[in-house]
Amino acid sequence: MNKEHFHKHTTLNGQLSFDEISPGFPVIKINNEYACATISLYGGQLLDYKPHEQLEQVIWLSDQALFEENKAIRGGVPICWPWFGDYEKFPAHGYARTTFWEIESTKQTIDGGTEVILKMSCHELCQNFLDSHPLFDCDLAITITVASKLTIELKTTNNSQHTVGISDALHSYFKISDIHTVDVIGLAQVNFFDKLKNQEACYEESKMRFMTETDRVFIDTTNEINLNDPGFNRTITISKKNSNSTVIWNPWQEKSSQMSDMSNQAWLQMLCIESANVLKNQLLLESGETHRLTTSIAVKTYI
Ligand code: BG6
Repeated sequence: MNKEHFHKHTTLNGQLSFDEISPGFPVIKINNEYACATISLYGGQLLDYKPHEQLEQVIWLSDQALFEENKAIRGGVPICWPWFGDYEKFPAHGYARTTFWEIESTKQTIDGGTEVILKMSCHELCQNFLDSHPLFDCDLAITITVASKLTIELKTTNNSQHTVGISDALHSYFKISDIHTVDVIGLAQVNFFDKLKNQEACYEESKMRFMTETDRVFIDTTNEINLNDPGFNRTITISKKNSNSTVIWNPWQEKSSQMSDMSNQAWLQMLCIESANVLKNQLLLESGETHRLTTSIAVKTYI
């Protein structure tokens, strides 16, 4: 294990342990009175989360996820920043998910939960990007709190002398029993951009169900989302702050079969619901301004 990342940090009376998920890829493991979770320093990325009373993980991590530099980890909650999707010649979804982050602090919260803050300076970003955007100067911090619910806050601070435009997303992969039987509530009458059809529409149904590949960016929405999963006997509630977009993605069979980091049947057991600020909800941060994108994830088992 690479101890240099961890040497200043205590185990918080056994709530934290430090490990590697693959050689050179350090992780923090949380086990407190509420839940277990794993956080990767590569990508500043939550990898899994399971409240003790749940039989199944709440967050999905691909069993074929690759742990390689310059590759994103498939699953967990990758951070899309400072853009979403493709951008010029640069990697899709930006650099935050392929950069090693540092631990800023760890602490036990008053209610016995665990808080971990990781930080990343944009000077860690790829030289290629900094060469063509020399004035870009933002710092990032992510706070992950595992307590009676899971909370993730992505904080962007614009340190530069000018306004910058950024997009951000907490690209959460949820573990589900079967994509054909779950439904999503909370997006009725919301406008969306369908990335597959390249067109905008308004979502008319009260319940979203899945019968085919889905890649939609819902815009101008701050709604809470309920992911109902009768097969796992639970509802996952995703609430958010300072997020005006919600992205829903499942690659379905054909696209996932072309992805080297997903096994053949894996698309059946995952659904991405991403709290974001993208497309026309992109953020303009003034010099010195800080933005906090927050998502909270709570799970309720049916009685
Ligand atoms: C989603 C996008 O957020 O992420 C999809 O809307 C994209 O278009 C998906 O395919 C996965 O992206 P990546 O880069 O992790 O394969």
